[in-house]
Amino acid sequence: TEDWKGGQFCKNIEPSKKKKLAKVLSELVLTADDIERIIAVFTQQMDMANSAKPDIRSKSDHLMENTHIRQLMDGTENGEYLGLDLGGTNYRVVLAKFKNGVADITIQNYVIPEHVLSGPSSGAFDFIADGIRQFFEKYNMKGRTKKIPLGFTFSFPSRQKTLKSQTLVTWTKSFKCPDGPGLDPVQLLEEALQRNAPDVPVEVVVVMSDTTSTLMAGNYVDKKARIGLILGTGCNAAFVENLDNIERWSGDRKDPQHVIVNVEWGATGDKGCLDFCRTKYEKQLDQLSNHPKSFTFEKSVGGLYLGELVRLMLVELAKEGLVFGGYLPPSLQPPWSLTATQITQIESDKGDDSSNTVSALKELGVSDPDADDVAVVREVAEMVCRRGAYVVSCGLAALVKRMGLAAVTVAIDGSVYERHPKFHGYMMEILGDSRFDSNTQIELILVKDGSGQGGAFAAASALRQLAAGIR
Ligand code: GLC
Repeated sequence: TEDWKGGQFCKNIEPSKKKKLAKVLSELVLTADDIERIIAVFTQQMDMANSAKPDIRSKSDHLMENTHIRQLMDGTENGEYLGLDLGGTNYRVVLAKFKNGVADITIQNYVIPEHVLSGPSSGAFDFIADGIRQFFEKYNMKGRTKKIPLGFTFSFPSRQKTLKSQTLVTWTKSFKCPDGPGLDPVQLLEEALQRNAPDVPVEVVVVMSDTTSTLMAGNYVDKKARIGLILGTGCNAAFVENLDNIERWSGDRKDPQHVIVNVEWGATGDKGCLDFCRTKYEKQLDQLSNHPKSFTFEKSVGGLYLGELVRLMLVELAKEGLVFGGYLPPSLQPPWSLTATQITQIESDKGDDSSNTVSALKELGVSDPDADDVAVVREVAEMVCRRGAYVVSCGLAALVKRMGLAAVTVAIDGSVYERHPKFHGYMMEILGDSRFDSNTQIELILVKDGSGQGGAFAAASALRQLAAGIR
C-alpha cells in the first residue's frame, strides 16, 4: 500500500510523531492498483456465481440469485399493498395505497429486543406477526374481507425458489437465532401469523431482499433506477439483468426480457479473494463479530462495523502512544463501544472546525482532548469510512460495467448512506474517476425507507406479473 502522507487533519502534528502515525495508518490506504484489483475481484465473483456449472458457482462468494421478479413499476398501480421489512434490529410494516401509480404511504417502525435476535427463529417471527396484528388494529384494518397482498422484505442471504419461497442460507448482521438456515422465511411468517394473528387478512405474494425492494422503490421515482444498493447495517446490491446473460435461467422467455438479480455480495472475501488488501483491524473485528469468517466485505463498510473498526485503530494508536497520551479511555475499552452514529458525528465536522469531534470525545469521557488527539480521531474516522466507501464503489463499478448501460441510477437505502455526511462524496471519488470509468453515466440517489416501501411496491408488480402469466 501507498504511504499515508499526513492527511488533511494532521498537518500540525510534529514530524517524528507523524512518521509513527504513518506506520499504522498506511495500512488503510487503497492505491489505484488495489482499486482496479478489487473491481476485478467483484467482476470475477459475479461471473462465477452466474455460472451454470456447480463446481464453478461454488467457488464464488456471491449468490447471484434470480428473484423471479420480472416487472418494475409501470405507473398503473392501484389498490392497497403491504410491505414487511425485516433485516436489522428494527422491522417495519408499510401500507401503500396506490391510485393510478401514485402511492400514499403509512409506515410503522418496531424495535426487536436483543433476546429475540438470539432466541429460536419462531420467536422472532411471532414478534413480527404480532407487529402486523398491531398495525391492523392501529389503522382499523381488521374487518377487511379481501386479503391484502404483502411483499416480505427479508434481508438475509437466501436461495430463491419462486416469487414467494426461498431458503435461508445463514443469518448475518445482528441476527443469531440458533435455527433458521435451511428454512423458508415465508413459511415461518405464515405459521407465525396463524399462531398470533389468524384473523388478520394478509397474503404473502412475494419475498425479496432489501436491495430488490429498494430497487423497486427507486424505480418508482426514477425510471433509470436499475440497481438497488443497501448501505446500512449490512451492504448488498441487486440489479436488473437481461435474461440472455443468466446462465441458470429457469423461467419463461416472455417479455419483459429481464429479471431482478440479487447479487448477495456481502460475503465477498470469505474464500480469500480480498486477502491482498485486508487490514489487521478488519481481521480483529471479524473475530469479535457475531459471525466470524463470514461476510468479510460487509465488515469493511456496514454500519454495524464502522465504529468498531475506528475503535480498534484507536486501541492500536493508544498502544503506540500516538493518541490519548497512550491511555485508552475506559469508555472505549469494550468492543463495539464506538458506534456508527458517533462516527457520523465526527465526520460531520467541516474544515478546521472540530466541534462535533470534541463533543463526541467528551461524551466518551475524554474531557480534555488535545489538538493532536482530535486530529488523529478525525483522520482515522475519515480513513475508515473512505476505505469502506471505496470498496463498495468497486463493487458498483464492476456491476455497472457488467450491465453496460449508457446511464444508470443507483437507488440507495440504509443508515450509512442516509446519515453519513461524506459517504456519497467518497463514493464519487471512485465512481467519477476516469481511471475506473465504465462509460456509464452513474447517478446515486437516496431512497429513504425504500427497503420497506419497495416491499409493498413489489407486491403490486408481482401480482401484475402473475396475472400476465409470466414466470
Ligand atoms: C446482508 C444480507 C443481505 C442484505 C444486506 C443489507 O448482507 O445478507 O441479504 O441485502 O445485509 O441489508
